[in-house]
Amino acid sequence: MNGEAWQQIAVYLLMLHGGAAMVTLLLLGALVPVHVLRAWRRGHNLVMGSVMVALNAILIVTAFGLYYLGSEAVRPWMSWVHLAFGVLLPALLALHIFLGRRQRA
Ligand code: HEM
Ligand code: HEM
Repeated sequence: MNGEAWQQIAVYLLMLHGGAAMVTLLLLGALVPVHVLRAWRRGHNLVMGSVMVALNAILIVTAFGLYYLGSEAVRPWMSWVHLAFGVLLPALLALHIFLGRRQRA
């Protein structure tokens, strides 16, 4: 495959990512009243719960940065922070669920 084909694939992947990110924001919003507030009031899983909230906030803020901060100095940082925390997300979510279920049991 030539460079142009790869570039086209990257464009489609980012589009897919953008769509998935929008659905994720919708689900995160729904999670606040039905999950986060309920668990917070019961005092369950507070540490990993806070980590989950912080992680998602970092992803959202850096996504904003990727979209709107064009500066040569800032964009690479946004890109690396977004990517690093994005890759960490599945492992931390799994740990959050594991510890949360254990506390509830
Ligand atoms: C954006 C943030 C969060 C996400 C994406 C998230 C996601 C999840 C998911 C998918 C589960 C598994 C549910 C199941 O057991 O079927 C879970 C469980 C749990 N989470 Fe969270 N969570 C978040 C924030 C929080 C916060 C802030 C707290 C605590 C204040 C918390 C406390 C718990 C607890 C206690 C469980 C065990 C099951 C339960 O009691 O519902 N979570 N979380
Ligand atoms: C709440 C979750 C997330 C939101 C709202 C979000 C949103 C975004 C947005 C708006 C962009 C810019 C798209 C563009 O420039 O056209 C982006 C880029 C990107 N995202 Fe996410 N994302 C999230 C989670 C993740 C996760 C879990 C990963 C996994 C590694 C990830 C990896 C990337 C990568 C690699 C880029 C391209 C970075 C660059 O252009 O330098 N994102 N994301």
